Amino acid sequence: MKLLVVGSGGREHCLVWKLSQSPLVETIFVAPGNGGTATTPKACNLSIDPLDFPRLADFAQQEHLAWTFVGPEQFLALGIVDYFRARGLPIIGPTQAGAQIESSKAWAKQLMVEAGVPTAQAQVFTDPLQAQASLDQGIWPRVIKADGLAQGKGVVIAYDRAEALDALQTCFALGGSGATVVIEQFLVGEELSVLALTDGTTIVPLVAAQDHKTIGEGDTGPNTGGMGTYAPVPLATAQIMAKVQTRVLQPTLDALRRRSIDYRGVLYAGLMIDPNGEPAVVEFNCRLGDPETQVVLPLLKTDFARIARALLDGTLADLPLEWHPGCAACVVVAAGGYPGSYRKGDPIKGLEKVSGYATVFHAGTAREGVDWVTQGGRVLGVTGSGATLADALQASYQAIAQLYFPDMYYRRDIGFKALQVTV
Ligand code: AMP
Ligand code: GLY
Repeated sequence: MKLLVVGSGGREHCLVWKLSQSPLVETIFVAPGNGGTATTPKACNLSIDPLDFPRLADFAQQEHLAWTFVGPEQFLALGIVDYFRARGLPIIGPTQAGAQIESSKAWAKQLMVEAGVPTAQAQVFTDPLQAQASLDQGIWPRVIKADGLAQGKGVVIAYDRAEALDALQTCFALGGSGATVVIEQFLVGEELSVLALTDGTTIVPLVAAQDHKTIGEGDTGPNTGGMGTYAPVPLATAQIMAKVQTRVLQPTLDALRRRSIDYRGVLYAGLMIDPNGEPAVVEFNCRLGDPETQVVLPLLKTDFARIARALLDGTLADLPLEWHPGCAACVVVAAGGYPGSYRKGDPIKGLEKVSGYATVFHAGTAREGVDWVTQGGRVLGVTGSGATLADALQASYQAIAQLYFPDMYYRRDIGFKALQVTV
């Protein structure tokens, strides 16, 4: 079969890499793809802007593609799934209505309250003065969030009134006129990413991962899209995962169905696990995590093309997922300066030297002739695998030692919390 993957990040390269291993798959078109998908067997980058839904759908129709899988939230929030469905073209991902679970934090909060899903207590404001007045009561810190998609820039943990006022100003400005801001309780605990697959009826969690979101070692400094991940996570015991299923995933899917939303694809629960092992939702995303995907898919044994079919056909319950033993760790190699401003266009050296237990997933790269060059803040995600987390991390860091571009930066402490548990 021929397929289309929409997106250009490390997540999409990893998905394309996984699909390329399927005997069912003949060609994977990627719109627009990156330097890694340009050189993955069976894959072919398309120079079609994914925002141009009609052109993309024309291509899917002409090529008789079996289905399209959408990586980034941006296109889902803009209704790419609604557009393809209206044209009778198979596509995996939630509709615009379903994508609100990520594109509107106020909408998601309301859904969670309705579904009885544990989450931080929150108030929603459209009036800046009322939002400011609310700061007079309550305890610190509290979390201020812009309602819409803000690429990680819309969340501030405010430790006092001055910080909160600053954050409110930024968040209201981000949303423009008619902006909505959520102010919520600060949750204590350890974060866990659970990416779940759903065909609209059945919802199945993938192996849990943990992401290091901040730029600095020791989980310090500004937030990024994610600097490294590992899976499985010792924190995610069978008992905790059972609570996630019954208290978070299933009730959320049920609440979506009550709103007549046919949600198919990925529901990503960003969770806080408190010291008593109780999960609460920090946020939902309507897509695969990046770089969580880069550790979850390498551990998945089941053919992803079969999973995609099951998501479309509503037969996920009949397809038990199988997993490879061992661990995976992904270390993100970023351009110096990220998440602030950074250079692009630097040649990346040493990629051909990486082999064995590590795989390099390209994120912000482009192919220029026979070379690869940097083209984004997060440039590469290097996934190592091994029997233990320590082995997986070692494979990843050994591979990174082969790589070079000017000012490359990566965290040397990915997985540190889990290493403390397992050592
Ligand atoms: P979000 O975009 O909502 O996931 O927020 C980004 C990050 O901010 C999360 O991954 C958490 O590290 C942190 N965060 C967001 N909301 C809360 C909260 N209520 N309590 C503690 N940390 C939070
Ligand atoms: N790694 C965090 C995210 O994908 O949102």
